[in-house]
Amino acid sequence: SAAEKGGYEYFMLKEIAEQPQAIADTLLGRLSDRGEIILDEVRLTDQDLRDVDKVFIVACGTAYHAGMVAKYAIEHWVRIPCEVELASEFRYRDPILDRSTLVIAISQSGETMDTLMALRHAKEQKARVLAICNTNGSTIPRESDAVLYTHGGPEIAVASTKAFLTQLVACYLIGLHLAQVRGVMYSDEVAAVVEKLQATPDSLRTLLSRMDQVRELGRDLRTASTVLFIGRHVGFPVALEGALKLKELAYMHAEGFAAGELKHGSISLVEDGTPVVCVVPSPTGRGVMRDKVVSNIQEVRARGARTIVIAEEGDEDVRQFADHLITVPHTPTLLAPLMTTVPLQILACEIAAARGNDVDQPRNLAKSVTVE
Ligand code: G6P
Repeated sequence: SAAEKGGYEYFMLKEIAEQPQAIADTLLGRLSDRGEIILDEVRLTDQDLRDVDKVFIVACGTAYHAGMVAKYAIEHWVRIPCEVELASEFRYRDPILDRSTLVIAISQSGETMDTLMALRHAKEQKARVLAICNTNGSTIPRESDAVLYTHGGPEIAVASTKAFLTQLVACYLIGLHLAQVRGVMYSDEVAAVVEKLQATPDSLRTLLSRMDQVRELGRDLRTASTVLFIGRHVGFPVALEGALKLKELAYMHAEGFAAGELKHGSISLVEDGTPVVCVVPSPTGRGVMRDKVVSNIQEVRARGARTIVIAEEGDEDVRQFADHLITVPHTPTLLAPLMTTVPLQILACEIAAARGNDVDQPRNLAKSVTVE
């Protein structure tokens, strides 16, 4: 009913709007007075975490994209190898695991069969399993050694939005926790990142208040035959997530690429007028990366692409390469997906609505897939 949707036309729009609160709730009470990250239910000691020499992240769909972002953060902060793999592939590939492997299973529902089978396989090999989950008491956290719940609240729309952003927050917290327990980061360094995380709900509110241009663009793109997404570093999983949202909701062909890889094949897809969504890293932080993406934008533009550029506010130089410029508030590089994903969620929702699709219940999809 309309009341359940809190005045929004779709659950998805309501859930997109709830993201600042969902992030704040997921951060709440996670940092102890001693500057340590608190997990909900931990059957893992600090010594267990110090013994970890490798991290494997397993998940499906949108949660897998959160895992891809986590890899960048964990390797950067913790300095141990981290791999991320689709749960359905991990399970049957014969991955090399032992008791010093930490497997992180990410799942909104906690009931996804592919992810559950991956975690059971990990446990059989004696690996420790930590779950990131949005559903209290569901199967995946019950079968794991530790769990960090995302406090996103119930997610009704099939396409995941607020669960994704809270999964990112949980991944950051786990990365920081590991770094701290293992002595790679000091408490004050951890607290400094947590402070940046705590600032993201406000930045997100600002961003959400100026999405009219994105909605208009969505209506305009409803007849496009394909939309390409490019990004680098943490912008790469954001590009994949933007494309997935569009496929799920708009039933349109869409594909995400690592910006630097495009020239090795897929750039031949670009025709006159092909919309290409470009996720640009912050010019502060690692500026080199931002410049590389800008040259990738020039490459597609030279081939006729209509460029939709997501960049940080204040990055004025990028404007000349953008047919449409969508700006997001500043965040440190690793945290940027908390901002850059949001316009892509709204874009997909708007295109789907303009095409007359059922935004909350897309055809052929289920909120939680409990078969392998
Ligand atoms: C289904 C949903 C996706 C979701 C995936 C993983 O396919 O349609 O939106 O990302 O499952 O779900 P989970 O509950 O494990 O996060």
